[in-house]
Amino acid sequence: MQDIIKRLVETSSPSGREENIQKIILEYIKPYVDDYHIDSLGNLIAHKKGNGKKLLFDAHADEIGFVATYIDDNGFIHIEPLGGHLPVNLPHQRIRFEYGTKGTIGYESEILMKQASDRKEVSFDTLFVDIGARTRNEALSKIRIGETATYDSSFVDMGNRYMSKAMDDRIACAILINVIQTLKSNHHDLYFVFATQEEVGLVGSKAAAYGIEPDYGIALDVTATGFRDTPKGAKRIPMKLGSGPAIKIQDRSMIADHRLNQWIQNIAEESHIPYQFEVLAFGGTNAGVIQTTKSGVITTCISIPTRYLHSASEVVDVFDVRHTAQLMKTIAEKEISI
Ligand code: CO
Ligand code: ZN
Repeated sequence: MQDIIKRLVETSSPSGREENIQKIILEYIKPYVDDYHIDSLGNLIAHKKGNGKKLLFDAHADEIGFVATYIDDNGFIHIEPLGGHLPVNLPHQRIRFEYGTKGTIGYESEILMKQASDRKEVSFDTLFVDIGARTRNEALSKIRIGETATYDSSFVDMGNRYMSKAMDDRIACAILINVIQTLKSNHHDLYFVFATQEEVGLVGSKAAAYGIEPDYGIALDVTATGFRDTPKGAKRIPMKLGSGPAIKIQDRSMIADHRLNQWIQNIAEESHIPYQFEVLAFGGTNAGVIQTTKSGVITTCISIPTRYLHSASEVVDVFDVRHTAQLMKTIAEKEISI
């Protein structure tokens, strides 16, 4: 599974440019599914037939990134965010543009000096990308306006932890691939959605769920960790690396179905899979749009605890990954009774 994770996180595929990642995911799942298609929004939808009600599993395939908007006379590139970025994460991060040009993010130095006292100044207003060009024309020979970019960081096996860009949400894609490849039997009629454009507003998943019209929906995404996990971590966030998959209670996009959560909790206990609960005061996932599809879908989200979300160095725990895969597989094999 580690090889698959490495390949997925190192693939550059920001929101709206998911073709690269979908091709790789398809390669892994094709021999194991009954049918599949890619819809107009680029969602990869795979089907494993079953006799029961329709159960949808969703992981988003896109990652956060950047888009080039303007090149100044000295060849510096101005960029806008694709998805949610914390600008303080960005100074001197390397990024890679769609057609291979690499650069580093610079800030107006005045602003960097003030950074400690006034974080608000560190924003997309005051940053630029240095791709080593000396003039606008030289830069234009390397990148085009509208070209996207992602972090340029590679996968690191830290022993019991993995570090990379794009763990959000390729770690979930890897887990769903593992479920598809190793599932022996399933009661429910299973749909696997590798959704596009989650990071810019849950776009792909909404259309995919509408087309499938599932009875149950389970999104798989990452979640933040807090005070129990890192020095002076966020006060209101109890989630912790290594404590197992987190069953979502609520976030800003939804209140998860508590009957479905109870059922998942029961099967986790029967199977001796550790779990924790997640209440997130910010953010949302595709579960939020799956839940409100058509006349409503019984929906929850399972989250993989992740440090340094939306940075170039997101960290997950190997045991959490294994336990989440085990939990998703157990869910996929059983009949949901609520
Ligand atoms: Co995200
Ligand atoms: Zn995500």
